[in-house]
Amino acid sequence: MRSVTGAGVVITGAGSGIGAALARRFAAEGARVVVNDIDAAAAQEVAKACGGEALPGDAASEAGVTGLISGAADLLDGIDLFCANAGIARPGGADAAELDWDASWQVNVMAHVRAARLLTGPWLEQGQGHLIYTVSAAGLLTMLGSAPYSVTKHAALAFAEWMSATYDHRGITVQALCPQGVRTPLYESSGPVGHALMDATAITPDAVADAVIEGIADGRFLILPHPEVSLMYSRRATDPDRWLNGMNRLQQRVEKLPDQ
Ligand SMILES: NC(=O)c1ccc[n+]([C@@H]2O[C@H](COP(=O)([O-])OP(=O)(O)OC[C@H]3O[C@@H](n4cnc5c(N)ncnc54)[C@H](O)[C@@H]3O)[C@@H](O)[C@H]2O)c1
Repeated sequence: MRSVTGAGVVITGAGSGIGAALARRFAAEGARVVVNDIDAAAAQEVAKACGGEALPGDAASEAGVTGLISGAADLLDGIDLFCANAGIARPGGADAAELDWDASWQVNVMAHVRAARLLTGPWLEQGQGHLIYTVSAAGLLTMLGSAPYSVTKHAALAFAEWMSATYDHRGITVQALCPQGVRTPLYESSGPVGHALMDATAITPDAVADAVIEGIADGRFLILPHPEVSLMYSRRATDPDRWLNGMNRLQQRVEKLPDQ
């Protein structure tokens, strides 16, 4: 798919932020949009504003993903594009609570696995399907201050790569959206560390939606609304020690911030 016009699209976590911007933009481009969010009122509000349908619920649990995909397939007469966008960012390192590690795995990784499990069969039969995973630059690099987020976003990227490598020749397109800071409630909750690291380059959710429309048009695997991430990703790969030294210097700067 090189354009969303006329497509039946599902977006998880679309009651806010990046997902809501994708819903608005896709609807404006002529897509038929199903808006999911665990916050039912938010999903309904966004759906109403963009002329889509709301299917609120948990987009991570097995039951929630099953209900969403079967409900959306009925409403849309088949799903052309599934945007696994819902995500959570929990702070901390190894000391983060078991509950936070588990929730991060469920929402940031297993939601993607469960959706793929249900979508892949029908798409392989049709010879076409399209998945966009909202990962993060943290999945290519790291996010200081949040080990659960960094680790699960790396896993989400690994799963997206695996899906693309396995199914591309059979008509399933997979793309990974990897922004840095985007001005959304999730970003605002990132505290002084997040703001210190990302304020200078943070962009709007609408700018991310623009990048996604461009990415769909050219079909590249990595959609990078912050182009500088590409350079950092290649530096990490070619000289990991230098990259880690740089990240550690950043960590030392962050530790000197007030409120740390
Ligand atoms: N904001 C950023 O700086 C940034 C940067 C890179 C990646 N991301 C990623 O973008 C995605 C969207 O984040 P955002 O910044 O728009 O955040 P946001 O908090 O504005 O929106 C996320 C939405 O997901 C919903 N949600 C959470 N768990 C859910 C679940 N289990 N089922 C259904 N909905 C659920 C929330 O209710 C919320 O409305 C996330 O995957 C996030 O990790 C965000």
